[in-house]
Amino acid sequence: MNVLVIGSGGREHALTWKLNQSKNVDKIYCAPGNAGMDDIAECVPDIQGTDIEKLLSFACSHNIDFTVVGPEVPLSMGICDAFEAQGLKVFGPSQKAAALESSKVFSKYFMNKYNIPTAAFEVFTELEPARKYVRQMGVPIVIKTDGLAAGKGAVICQTLEEADETLNEMLVSQTFGDAGARVIIEEFLLGEEVSVFILSDGENFKILPCSQDHKAVYDGDTGPNTGGMGAYAPAAMLTPDLMETIIETVAKPSIEGMALEGHPYRGLLYAGLMLTPKGPKLLEYNCRFGDPETQAVLPLIKSDLLELLLASVNGTLDQVTLEVHDKAAVCVVIASGGYPGKYEKGHSILGLDWPFDADTIIFHAGTRRKRNTTVTAGGRVLGVTAVADSIPEAIKKAYTAVGKITFNQAYYRKDIAQKALRNLMK
Ligand code: AMP
Ligand code: GLY
Repeated sequence: MNVLVIGSGGREHALTWKLNQSKNVDKIYCAPGNAGMDDIAECVPDIQGTDIEKLLSFACSHNIDFTVVGPEVPLSMGICDAFEAQGLKVFGPSQKAAALESSKVFSKYFMNKYNIPTAAFEVFTELEPARKYVRQMGVPIVIKTDGLAAGKGAVICQTLEEADETLNEMLVSQTFGDAGARVIIEEFLLGEEVSVFILSDGENFKILPCSQDHKAVYDGDTGPNTGGMGAYAPAAMLTPDLMETIIETVAKPSIEGMALEGHPYRGLLYAGLMLTPKGPKLLEYNCRFGDPETQAVLPLIKSDLLELLLASVNGTLDQVTLEVHDKAAVCVVIASGGYPGKYEKGHSILGLDWPFDADTIIFHAGTRRKRNTTVTAGGRVLGVTAVADSIPEAIKKAYTAVGKITFNQAYYRKDIAQKALRNLMK
């Protein structure tokens, strides 16, 4: 099969890397791709992931048999509906099903309707009632934009002043445009977060190895939130009992609910959960693989990824098995200094040609080729991933590899997966 992977981040490099191991893959194209994807596939840098027209015409002219969509924006624009209308096979949810991520208001009402445990909330479009509600609930409190906001749409407010400022930005100054025209104000939940990847064909589903992200930019989970500074899998704190609860109270009702709504969910449904003292609660859905979690999860999957993704599209997930390696993976993101704020691009990356062993995989995110070198081209630059028999070994291996790579103003967290060690010691 000829496969087209849409996107240019670490998640898409990991998807391309794993698809490339499938015996049924002849050739992979990536649009637009990055320098790492370019090593194993043919990149089409001139076509952006949001240019549905161009992607469609590329798929038709290059005999693409299967398309895998990485990021949420094209999914929310209806790329899968457009491809399917042309008779093309595409992995990902329809635009209506992708609303689980693209409209937090839709997703919160959906959770309530199907009794999926989540933080208590109210929806507002006007400043004064919103301010009143915040005062009624007290701080800390969480304020979220309804629409997509590139990871910046959820604000945890520790003071009333912060809450007022956030409401002003969203509802009055309209810093987030239409995405912030409706806001959700919700109860602040305490606990450990876990990322659960549910692969579904609309009816059947399989749970991939669970992982934990590290969203804050600095060690000890301090500083502003980023897209994710590192991840590990499997998530150490998920006991079989907890997993069973998550399947019964979150995964099953989510997949059944979307089918009942008339928008069966085909694709990867990412459930972002908070493990609270009152049980797991759903913080949010994402309608795609997580980044960087995918870089820790996919190396643990033994099964053929193409077969799994095709089964999701064909409605045959009940006929395939998901086999997983009994190992652990840790991914440490190396970012450009300054990220998630301002950062520089174009710095040469040194050390990529180090003879890393097969269990160390350097996934590229914001990189591009410049003549014969690879240079930085984004906030998150690389996801250095190591697979080993245990989390402690994988941590050691990942940081040894990180030590071989350098570029001007490179920054990474030193404590990725330490949380797992704390859980393993309990
Ligand atoms: P979201 O976009 O809804 O996933 O929110 C982004 C991040 O904000 C989450 O990964 C959590 O770390 C945090 N967050 C979101 N909702 C809550 C909540 N109700 N209580 C505590 N933290 C939250
Ligand atoms: N790592 C968080 C996300 O992919 O949304």
